[in-house]
Amino acid sequence: MSDKKIILTGDRPTGKLHIGHYVGSLKNRVKLQNSGEFETFIMIADMQALTDNARDPEKIRHSLLQVALDYLAVGIDPAKSNILVQSQIPALTELTEFYLNLVTVSRLERNPTVKTEIKQKKFGQSVPAGFFTYPVSQAADITAFKATTVPVGEDQEPMLEQTREIVRSFNNIYGDILVEPEGYFPEEGQGRIPGLDGNAKMSKSLDNAIYLSDDADTIQKKVMSMYTDPTHIHVEDPGHIEGNTVFTYLDIFGEDTDKIADLKAQYQHGGLGDVKIKRYLNDVLQATLKPIRERRETFEKDPAGVYQILKDGSAQANVVANQTLTEVRNAIGVNYFD
Ligand code: TRP
Repeated sequence: MSDKKIILTGDRPTGKLHIGHYVGSLKNRVKLQNSGEFETFIMIADMQALTDNARDPEKIRHSLLQVALDYLAVGIDPAKSNILVQSQIPALTELTEFYLNLVTVSRLERNPTVKTEIKQKKFGQSVPAGFFTYPVSQAADITAFKATTVPVGEDQEPMLEQTREIVRSFNNIYGDILVEPEGYFPEEGQGRIPGLDGNAKMSKSLDNAIYLSDDADTIQKKVMSMYTDPTHIHVEDPGHIEGNTVFTYLDIFGEDTDKIADLKAQYQHGGLGDVKIKRYLNDVLQATLKPIRERRETFEKDPAGVYQILKDGSAQANVVANQTLTEVRNAIGVNYFD
């Protein structure tokens, strides 16, 4: 087997991407893509998005283009990365079907990510079977491209573990065909960004996100509304840094570490108002997001061009995934007429 490293990663198209996605995975992808050390596949996982949105396909259809625009905006470059659409790669479905036989229901029930999501989504007794088994379909996504490296947020680690188990089991039974992937996670303290309201998670459903497509005024309004330190009532009161969302964001997005250290010291001492630190954070975020938004606006004017990028990426992806599927079918022996 060749030792070239291969990246496969992706997102569910259920809405526009926000700065949580940016620090949690998009930034890493761009860095890895530009390192030139990988062949990169980035998937818009519309089939996976449908596992809990089957009754709202229009949302997925709309979000597909939004996610593609967000990718291009942050610097994912179709000349360097294949951007592909999951539903356009039929081999993935067939691989999923083979892998489903290698996984037990109880193992899927123990998958921590699925467990959490089932609670969050309030399915009760009505968990769609497709949703329950999506980790297996995700294993198909990863193995179809023989990915070695999967740059994702920390919450996806259980998916990778599940994939590795399927790979080991498959290779054990049918021979050495599939590749065990490893995760590639953001640096310590860099990957997770709380919501504007201080909630540990930034998400659309919690309405506490800054989107990559937000205009300058919207960003400013959101920053000025951010959660800080509820005990910091008067400017002269000493304030807390820990759990103070504004400082958490500054640690992630700010570059002038000396200035940030000074601001922290002043804030803790007392005499530095929330409005001042928010204004500074606003400047920092505007500087980060402006070039992203401008690139997005350029691509927004040409949706046909964006769809063409997805079509080309999917065509190339099909060549690779079909090759793996052929190997898998041959290994299992369902190639009767060859
Ligand atoms: N589960 C990922 C998410 O929630 C999306 C995804 C689908 C993915 N297939 C993948 C990520 C394969 C990494 C590899 O965003």
